[in-house]
Amino acid sequence: MGVYDLIQRRWTVTRNYPVAAHLRWLFFDLRPYLRQYIVEGDLEGKPYSYEARSLVHARALGGEEAHPFGTELDVLQPGYRWANHSIAPAENPEKEPRIEIGNDQCSQHYSASLLNISAMSFGALGSHAIQALNKGAKQGGFFHDTGEGGISPYHLKHGGDLVWEIGSGYFGCRNDDGSFDPELFKEGATREQVRMTEIKLSQGAKPGHGGMLPGAKVTEEIAKTRKVPAHEDCLSPRGHTAFSTPVEMMEFAARMREMSGGKPVGIKLCVGQMHEVFAVMKAMLKTGIHLDFIVVDGAEGGTGAAPLELSNHVGMPLREGLILMRNALVGTGLKDKVRLGSSGKVFSGYGIAENIALGADWCNAARAFMFSIGCIQAQRCHTGTCPTGVTTQDPIRQRALVVDVQAERAARFHKKTLHALADIVAAAGVEHPRDLRPHHISIRDNPTDARSFDAAKAFLQPNELLDAPEDTIYARHWQAADADSFKPRQDLPHPEKESEEA
Ligand SMILES: Cc1cc2nc3c(=O)[nH]c(=O)nc-3n(C[C@H](O)[C@H](O)[C@H](O)COP(=O)(O)O)c2cc1C
Ligand code: SF4
Repeated sequence: MGVYDLIQRRWTVTRNYPVAAHLRWLFFDLRPYLRQYIVEGDLEGKPYSYEARSLVHARALGGEEAHPFGTELDVLQPGYRWANHSIAPAENPEKEPRIEIGNDQCSQHYSASLLNISAMSFGALGSHAIQALNKGAKQGGFFHDTGEGGISPYHLKHGGDLVWEIGSGYFGCRNDDGSFDPELFKEGATREQVRMTEIKLSQGAKPGHGGMLPGAKVTEEIAKTRKVPAHEDCLSPRGHTAFSTPVEMMEFAARMREMSGGKPVGIKLCVGQMHEVFAVMKAMLKTGIHLDFIVVDGAEGGTGAAPLELSNHVGMPLREGLILMRNALVGTGLKDKVRLGSSGKVFSGYGIAENIALGADWCNAARAFMFSIGCIQAQRCHTGTCPTGVTTQDPIRQRALVVDVQAERAARFHKKTLHALADIVAAAGVEHPRDLRPHHISIRDNPTDARSFDAAKAFLQPNELLDAPEDTIYARHWQAADADSFKPRQDLPHPEKESEEA
């Protein structure tokens, strides 16, 4: 080995330190574990701190979740947020709150929990994980989003409510050329277990990327579920082919609602350019077709695998995206018709409370539910060697995940988190999470100043964008929005150029 190391040409350190340099590889492999078990402090650990993971694990296991001796957070740190409680707490907060989804254009409304399992495909997750999550959803009365990889037999086995997500690859409802197949869609969407359908436009961890499942991972089962050839690379294009303008997207959504037998239909996206959000609103106003829901995913969201640049630097974080979407819906008078979901590192009752106070109607969580069924944040999801059997197709590794045991844990985590939400709701002096408002949450600007969100950010009044858009902070983006194009309107003078000329 020493001679080979000396003459090989690929590795620099190995050429100078034959044999000994192999220890580096060993430590690279052990690095996540050494960091997690030995070095990491309670508030460290990324994307989720040890404290966050421990909370989910404790709730899932039904163990001790009380925290002794006071907060370890630095409450003087800029960005620290808290909920403003009341002198008069509510006595009987709603413990299992639900939200009705579906406007007057849909005939099969759905009553959703305020915490649900966010989209994760069969392919990204193994069959045991899908089963555990779905069985947990059945036990706990919440929904399970299929992710864009189609409806697998494992989604159907335990009868938990499903939201069927349709991505740009139209997996499970596609023709051989990758285009949308209405007949296959109808077949899946009319299943009783499918309660809503969702068009995926983007996700926070890799907006505008699409994706590719390498041929090696496209097993016979995955191929059958997705309706693609087995053992060949399986591509999700960057964008949709079934529509190319906001108006066409509304028409497509209306077709989906009709083909599903009148079930709620929505979109999921990570917000990017602001005028596009307003273009979607204008398309709803122009066509009279109203989406039943919109889910905003934050840039901080997770994925099985994504380019680092896209995860780190593309897409709007949840807080900004959520407030923008809330303002777009309220400002156009559409908020009563279109429910607003949110996802992005939600793992606790406080996270749900904050999102709802800022405009969301409910939350979805992906990674927190992964923790609840055993994930330890080893971050090997893309390698197929997940040590807990969550994100692997390897049957030997999946043996680690016992469906019945982990299903109960997912359900218990859900229930206890909603009870924690109820504690915050009661402390705020209201009975139901829907009564939380921006003034219930504060954020610290610097060590001496903090503001409640109603003072920190603009929250539009109903119809403000219709009545006086020029008086809002969104004037420029509203003006640039076009119901017939995702591109900004070109026929208007550029506001920045105008002011330069003036
Ligand atoms: C393993 C994994 C697979 C995912 N697959 C999908 C997917 O198929 N479709 C989608 O819209 N989002 C997908 N996501 C994103 C999540 O649905 C969610 O939007 C994001 O992770 C934010 O939630 P979290 O912060 O609670 O994890 C995936 C996330 C993970 C971790
Ligand atoms: S335990 Fe598995 S699912 Fe969790 S982060 Fe590690 S590889 Fe991914």
